[in-house]
Amino acid sequence: MSTTDRMKADMATAYDRIAEEYDHSGVEYYEPLARVLVARARLRAGDRVLDLGCGTGNVLFPAARAVAPGGTVVGIDLSRNMIARAEAAVSQQGLHDVTLAVMDGEAPEYPPASFDAVLSNVSVTLFPGAPAALRRYRDLLRPGGRLVFTAPVFDGDGFPSVLPSALKDTLRRMISLLHEVGFPKPYMDSGLWFGDAPSLRHALRSAGFDEVDVVEEPLTMAMESGEMWLRWLWVHAAMRLFWDRLDPRHQEELAAAIAEELDALRDVDGVIRYDVTARSVVAFPA
Ligand SMILES: C[S@@+](CC[C@H](N)C(=O)[O-])C[C@H]1O[C@@H](n2cnc3c(N)ncnc32)[C@H](O)[C@@H]1O
Repeated sequence: MSTTDRMKADMATAYDRIAEEYDHSGVEYYEPLARVLVARARLRAGDRVLDLGCGTGNVLFPAARAVAPGGTVVGIDLSRNMIARAEAAVSQQGLHDVTLAVMDGEAPEYPPASFDAVLSNVSVTLFPGAPAALRRYRDLLRPGGRLVFTAPVFDGDGFPSVLPSALKDTLRRMISLLHEVGFPKPYMDSGLWFGDAPSLRHALRSAGFDEVDVVEEPLTMAMESGEMWLRWLWVHAAMRLFWDRLDPRHQEELAAAIAEELDALRDVDGVIRYDVTARSVVAFPA
């Protein structure tokens, strides 16, 4: 098995394990980000939409509302259990224009010019072969179509904005321990195709997208406890996969330090809050 196939298989296994907890960490992040993404896609009634790495459906549902009547939304994901949860939610909500498939998001099996929008929330940046896949996404778009996705933001030290900067030292220690247990560099490397806005523009232009719009907006994370924040961290597969490989002593020590440092961020109402930057990208083919 190639390294990228191994990374994808690990990812699918991790999300299979996470699926049940995914929407229940108590910290809102993926859903508000999905709403930002769908708003930026400017979907219209009748549009055909593909959602890459759809997970349990945070993008599918607002997208289905935006394309009704007459539109369709297709969600694909490598994790069977994430798809199973999305299927249950789709049938519970009685949505007839949403279809789901277990499929590699790097190689969607649809004819060219099938979609008006290809969307991806916190997913395409997890695909190890994404730069090559961008060209496939371009080919899937009909005239006037667009690729819209969210991408992480890193500060000048390469620290992800989604993590509280007050915990920088502890989280750096966690990351260095994760490297020791075999955390693959591509998961942590901010020098990637999506590491900053110029890199994103370059990768998308190389894949045949000539108009690329990168927008950043603030999003506030709120939680009741450090324990809740850790639960949220663990529904991110890469973190969960490698956290589980840390020895129990390090897990305990890090969890205690994180809880203590987050407690120091409590507002007068007892809620822990910090601001993150949501970055979304809209790209139109040449
Ligand atoms: C952070 S979750 C985001 C899920 C969803 N988009 C949301 O907004 O909540 C990442 C998702 O990408 C999926 N994923 C990771 N690699 C994938 C791949 N190569 N192809 C398809 N899905 C993939 C995972 O299984 C997981 O469901």
